[in-house]
Amino acid sequence: MQSVNESQELPTLTLDGEEIAFTPGETVYEVSTRAGKAVPTLCYDPRLEALGSCRLCVVEVEGQRVPVASCTTRAEDGMKVTTASAKVEAQRRTLLELVASENREVTVDALRGVASQELGTLVERYDAGGGRFAGAQSGASRPDDPNPFILRDYDLCISCYRCVRVCAEQEGDYAISMANRGFATQITVEFGGHLQDSACTFCGQCVQTCPTGALADKKALRFAGDGTLNRGS
Ligand code: FES
Repeated sequence: MQSVNESQELPTLTLDGEEIAFTPGETVYEVSTRAGKAVPTLCYDPRLEALGSCRLCVVEVEGQRVPVASCTTRAEDGMKVTTASAKVEAQRRTLLELVASENREVTVDALRGVASQELGTLVERYDAGGGRFAGAQSGASRPDDPNPFILRDYDLCISCYRCVRVCAEQEGDYAISMANRGFATQITVEFGGHLQDSACTFCGQCVQTCPTGALADKKALRFAGDGTLNRGS
C-alpha cells in the first residue's frame, strides 16, 4: 500500500544532469529559473501568458529533434533538459544579433523603464552587437504623438508584444495592437492615431514591461534631458 509521502511525491526532470522536482503545470523555464539557471528571455513576462515568439529561451530536450522554447513547454516526468549547450548558446547569439540589427540602438537610458535594459544586457552577455546582419529595420517611431506621458520610440521595438499583451491581459484596455507583418510590423492604436484618442489610460504598464526602451516615460526623459523627445517632432 502507498504511504502518504509516496502518494505526494512530485515528478522530476533532469536539468543539466541534476534531478529536480517540479509541480505539475510548471514550464521548463519556470523549473530552470527556480534551479538558478540563467535562461535568457525577451518576450517573457511572468505576469503574462507565454507567447513563445522570441525563441531566446530555447533548451535541448532529449528525444526532441530541435531545441524547444522553455517558456511554453510544460515540464514532464523523466524529461532530460540541457539549458546551455553550445548549440543553443550559438542559436541565442544569432537571434540576438538579428534582433539588435533591426534597432537604432540597444543601449538606452535606464530611465526609460524598469525592463528597458533587458535587450542591451543580453546583447552584451552574448557579445551580439557586432553588426553582422546590418540591414532593414522594423517599426516606425511616433515622436509626433502629443500625449505628455509615453514616448513611442518604435525604432527600438522588437515586436515581443509585451506591451500589447500587458495592456490586454493585465489592464483589460486593448488600447494598442500590432499591424502588418515582417519588417512592416508596427505597434499601433486604432486607425494609426494618437494614444490620447485611444482607450489608453496611461497606466504605464506598457512602459514598465518594454525590454528595449521603445516605450518610455516622457517625464523621466525630460528630467534626464534626453534629446530623443525632440527627435523628428
Ligand atoms: Fe520563450 Fe521568448 S522567452 S520564446
